[in-house]
Amino acid sequence: MNARNSAWFFLSVPFLCFSLNTHLSFGVETLSVGESISGDQTIVSEGDGNFELGFFTPGNISQKYYIGIWYRKISEFTTIWVANRDKPLSDKYSSQLKLLEDGNLVILDSSKTIIWSTNLTPKSSNSTEAALRDSGNFVLRDVSNSSDLIWQSFDHPTDTWLPGGKIRLNKLTHESQRLTSWKNSEDPATGLFSLELDPAGTSQYFIMWNGSVQYWTSGTWNGHIFSLVPEMRSNYIYNFTYVNNTEENYFTYNLYNSSIISRFVMDVAGQINQLTWVAGVGWNLFWAQPRQKCEVHALCGAFGTCNEQASTSCSCLQGFNPRNAIDYSNLSDWSGGCVRNTPLQCMNNASVNGGKDGFLKMSNMGLPINSQSLAVGSAQACELACLNNCSCNAYAYDGGCSVWEGDVLNLEQLSDDDTGGKDLYLKLASSELSNTTSGVPKKGSATGAIVGAVSGVVALLGFLVVLIWTRQRRKLVGTSKGVEGYLVPFSYKDLQIATKNFSEKLGGGGFGSVFKGILPDSTVVAVKKLEGISQGEKQFRTEVSTIGTIQHVNLIRLRGFCSEGTKRMLVYDFMPKGSLDSYLFNEKKSSEVLDWKMRYQIALGTARGLAYLHEKCRECIIHCDIKPENILLDAEFCSKVADFGLAKLVGREFSRVLTTMRGTRGYLAPEWISGVAITAKADVYSYGMMLFELISGRRNSDQSDDHKCGFFPTWAARQINEEGEILSLLDCKLEGNADLAEVNRACKVACWCIQDEEVHRPSMGLVVQILEGVVEVSPSPIPRTLQILSENHEHMVFFSESSSNPSSHSQSPKSGTSSKVRSIKSSPNPMT
Ligand SMILES: *[C@@H]1O[C@H](CO)[C@@H](O)[C@H](O)[C@H]1NC(C)=O
Ligand SMILES: *[C@@H]1O[C@H](CO)[C@@H](O)[C@H](O)[C@H]1NC(C)=O
Ligand SMILES: *[C@@H]1O[C@H](CO)[C@@H](O)[C@H](O)[C@H]1NC(C)=O
Ligand SMILES: *[C@@H]1O[C@H](CO)[C@@H](O)[C@H](O)[C@H]1NC(C)=O
Ligand SMILES: *[C@@H]1O[C@H](CO)[C@@H](O)[C@H](O)[C@H]1NC(C)=O
Ligand SMILES: *[C@@H]1O[C@H](CO)[C@@H](O)[C@H](O)[C@H]1NC(C)=O
Ligand SMILES: *[C@@H]1O[C@H](CO)[C@@H](O)[C@H](O)[C@H]1NC(C)=O
Ligand SMILES: *[C@@H]1O[C@H](CO)[C@@H](O)[C@H](O)[C@H]1NC(C)=O
Ligand SMILES: *[C@@H]1O[C@H](CO)[C@@H](O)[C@H](O)[C@H]1NC(C)=O
Ligand SMILES: *[C@@H]1O[C@H](CO)[C@@H](O)[C@H](O)[C@H]1NC(C)=O
Ligand SMILES: *[C@@H]1O[C@H](CO)[C@@H](O)[C@H](O)[C@H]1NC(C)=O
Repeated sequence: MNARNSAWFFLSVPFLCFSLNTHLSFGVETLSVGESISGDQTIVSEGDGNFELGFFTPGNISQKYYIGIWYRKISEFTTIWVANRDKPLSDKYSSQLKLLEDGNLVILDSSKTIIWSTNLTPKSSNSTEAALRDSGNFVLRDVSNSSDLIWQSFDHPTDTWLPGGKIRLNKLTHESQRLTSWKNSEDPATGLFSLELDPAGTSQYFIMWNGSVQYWTSGTWNGHIFSLVPEMRSNYIYNFTYVNNTEENYFTYNLYNSSIISRFVMDVAGQINQLTWVAGVGWNLFWAQPRQKCEVHALCGAFGTCNEQASTSCSCLQGFNPRNAIDYSNLSDWSGGCVRNTPLQCMNNASVNGGKDGFLKMSNMGLPINSQSLAVGSAQACELACLNNCSCNAYAYDGGCSVWEGDVLNLEQLSDDDTGGKDLYLKLASSELSNTTSGVPKKGSATGAIVGAVSGVVALLGFLVVLIWTRQRRKLVGTSKGVEGYLVPFSYKDLQIATKNFSEKLGGGGFGSVFKGILPDSTVVAVKKLEGISQGEKQFRTEVSTIGTIQHVNLIRLRGFCSEGTKRMLVYDFMPKGSLDSYLFNEKKSSEVLDWKMRYQIALGTARGLAYLHEKCRECIIHCDIKPENILLDAEFCSKVADFGLAKLVGREFSRVLTTMRGTRGYLAPEWISGVAITAKADVYSYGMMLFELISGRRNSDQSDDHKCGFFPTWAARQINEEGEILSLLDCKLEGNADLAEVNRACKVACWCIQDEEVHRPSMGLVVQILEGVVEVSPSPIPRTLQILSENHEHMVFFSESSSNPSSHSQSPKSGTSSKVRSIKSSPNPMT
C-alpha cells in the first residue's frame, strides 16, 4: 500500500462508519450503463455528499417504497424528489433502479416490469452515466463530457424547489414545470395543490387547486421583487433570476451564502413554504403563502369547515362525517371532504322518519362565495326556497337571500374576535337536528311563541344571576390596587364585562387582538386575547407568573391574566398614547410629530427596558419581536416595551407567527434565517433597525417615496462612514431641529446593532451607555447583509470611552479623560 492509498483508506473510514450506522448501505457516486441499485443501496452526491438517492418509505405507517432523493447531512429525514410518486413499489429488495443500455433510467418492480422511465429516445451507445450532483440534481450525462446533460431531475420537480432548480413554462410546447404537493404526509402521490408560472405567459406565479382554480398569485416580477410579495424587498438570502426568451420563461434562484440549507415546498395543506434548516431546532418556516391556511381553496373539502386558530384546521360540519376517516382525521388530508350521516328527506316524498328537513344555524361563519342569489324579500321566503329545492344545501339571509347548491366549499369558522362573521343555515335531516341544542327545526308559530316566552324568562333569570354573581365577585377581587405586586387572576366573565364584550379593539398582532377595558375600580387596562396557545394551564400560569415578576419603568406592566378552558388572556396597563408606529409613520398631517428630544428619550428608554430583560432578569429574556408596534407610549411619551415573554408562552408556533406576518421581516436578524441559535443579539439587531426608523421617520422597507437613498439603513451606513451630511438622514418633518451629536451617535449605534456577526453587535447595556454619552462609539463597518462591502473599514475598532464628559443625566460611572478601550463584557451596567 503506497502513501496515497493509505491516505484514501483513512479518509474513507469515517464515511463508512456513518453509512453503516445509518443506512447499512454503500454509497456509489455514479451509475454506468447496465448498473443498478436495489434494496438499501444508495447513490451519494458528488463533492460534499449533501444528498443521497435510494429507496425510501414515506411517513410512519406507509409500507410502500419509492425512489427518492433526501438530505444526507441533517437529522430529520426530508425528501426533495420522488421518481415514482404515483407508482409505489411493495418491496425494495426485488426492485431496481437501472440505467439501461438504451440510455434510459428506469425503475423495475419485482416482476421486472418498468414502472417508471426517463422516457428518452433510445440510443445505442455506452456513453451515458447517471450521477447525483451536490445541488440535489440527479442527472444523466455524457461520460466524456460531464456538462452535457441528457436528463435532469430538476426539470421534473415534485413538491420541492431547491436553489438552482427552475419553475418553467415552455412557450413552444406550453408544458409547465410546476411544484405539486404530496397527497398527504404518508403519500407522495400527485396532490391537488401546485405552484406554477401563469400559463398565459406573464411573469407571475399562481398557486392552483386541481389545476383549475387559482387561489393565490405572486403578482408580476418587476425586476427585483414580485409585486404582491413586498417582503422580498428586505431579502438578502436569495438571488432570484427571471429569464424570458423565445423558448421559455423561468425563475431560478440561488443563495448568497451557499452554506445555508434552504428549500421551497408546496405543502400538503396548499401553502407554499420557505424553510431553512436550523441545527438543533429543525426546519424553520419563515415564509408561507397564502398567509392564512383557510385561504387555501377547498382545503377542508366538501361540507368541511376551516378554523384558522385550531391546531387541526378542518372539521366536518355537524351532521356530516369524513368520506375517508383516516385521511381526514389522521393524515390531515381533507380533500375527500365530508358526507351526510342521514340523507335529506327531500329525496323521499314520504316522511319516513317523521318530520321534514330543517336548518341548523351556524353563527360567525366566513361564507363561501359560490352562492346563488334569489330575489326573495324575507328570511322566511329564503328558507322556504331552500327547503323546497332538493339541490339546495344551505342558505344565508343578510338583506338578500343566498343559497348554496351542491357541495359547500370554503366555509370558515371565524374566531370570537372577528366581527365579520355571518349566520349560515345548513339543511339537515330532522333526525340530525333533534340531536342538537342549537338546531332550528321547522316549528309552528305557537311553539315559537312558547319558546320565545320561556327563553325570555331564562334570559332574565340568567341576567339576575350574573348580576348577583358579579357583585359578589367584585367584592372578592376587590380593586386591582388591593393586590399590588401580584398578578390578578381574572375570570373570563370579568374581562368580558371590563371590555364591554371585547368591543373596543386597540390593535391586532400575531399573537392575538388587544382590547380596551375598564376594571371595577376604574383602572383602564389593555386586554390581550392570546391565540394559538397550545400549552396547558399549569405551564401557562408558570410562564405568566414569571412575566409578572418583571417590572421596570420601560417595560409594560402585566397586571393579571385569565386562563379558563382554552381561553388565555393577559391584562396590561393601558397606554394612552398608543404605539410608536402611529407617530412615526402616520401620513396624516394632523398627527403629532415627535420632536427629536422625545425620539431620543424613546430610543434610550427602549434600550433600557431591553437591557433589563437581557441582563437583569433571573433568566435572560429575549424579546424576539422588537418593532415600533411593540413600543408603547404613556401619557408623558415615556416608552414601554410590550409583548416581552411571549416567545416562551407561544412556544413552537412563535417563529411561524413571527415570520409569516407582513412587515416583520425587516426587523429580523439574519440568524433567524441562517439557522444558528437565537440570542439576545437578535433583539439588538431589531432594535438597530427600529432606531433607523426613529431617525428617518419612515419604514426601512419603504423605498417608494425616496429613491435616491433606497434601503435606508444601507444609505445611512454609507453617509456616516463617508463623513456625509448627517442632517440629511433626519426625518424631514423635524425640519433640521435636532441635536446633531445625538443624531450622529444614534446613527452609529444603529449601524453597530445591525452587524451580521452577533459578536460585533453591542449588548443592550452598552447601547444604553453609548446613547447616554458615557461611551464613545466609532463608525461601524457596513453590514455585509446590506450587500455593500467597504474595504476601508475592515478593521474593527470597537467602543472606546468618551474623552469628553457629555452626559448630564447619566448616573453611570464615568471615566473622564481616560482613553483606554473598554471591552464590551466588562462594561458596567447602565440600569439605575
Ligand atoms: C411520525 O411520527 C413522529 C413521532 O411520532 C411524528 O413526530 C411525525 O410527525 C410523524 N410523521 C408523519 C409524517 O406523520
Ligand atoms: C456496451 O457495453 C456492453 C458491456 O460492456 C457491450 O456488451 C456492448 O457491446 C457495448 N455497446 C456498445 C454500443 O458499445
Ligand atoms: C460539453 O457539453 C456542453 C453542453 O452540451 C458543450 O457546450 C461543450 O462544448 C461540450 N464540451 C466538449 C469538450 O465537448
Ligand atoms: C417576454 O419577452 C417578450 C419579447 O421580448 C415580451 O414581449 C414579453 O412581454 C415578455 N414576457 C414577460 C412575461 O416578461
Ligand atoms: C380534479 O379535476 C379532475 C378533472 O380534471 C376531476 O376528475 C377530479 O374529480 C377533480 N378532483 C376533485 C377533488 O375535485
Ligand atoms: C444572481 O444569480 C445570477 C444568475 O444565477 C448571477 O448571474 C448573478 O451573479 C447572481 N448575483 C449575485 C449578486 O450573486
Ligand atoms: C387514527 O387516530 C386515532 C386517534 O389518534 C387512532 O386511535 C387510530 O388508531 C388512528 N388510525 C390509524 C389507522 O392510524
Ligand atoms: C313526489 O311527489 C310529487 C308530487 O308531489 C310526485 O310528482 C312525485 O312522483 C313524488 N316522488 C316520489 C319519489 O314519490
Ligand atoms: C333548484 O335550484 C336549481 C339550481 O339553481 C334550479 O335550476 C332549479 O330550478 C331549482 N328548483 C326549483 C324547484 O326551484
Ligand atoms: C346523534 O348523534 C350521535 C353522535 O353525535 C349519533 O351517533 C346518532 O346517530 C345521532 N342520532 C340521530 C338520531 O341521528
Ligand atoms: C454562511 O452561513 C454560515 C452558517 O450559517 C456562516 O457560518 C457563514 O459565516 C456564512 N458565510 C458568509 C460569507 O456569510
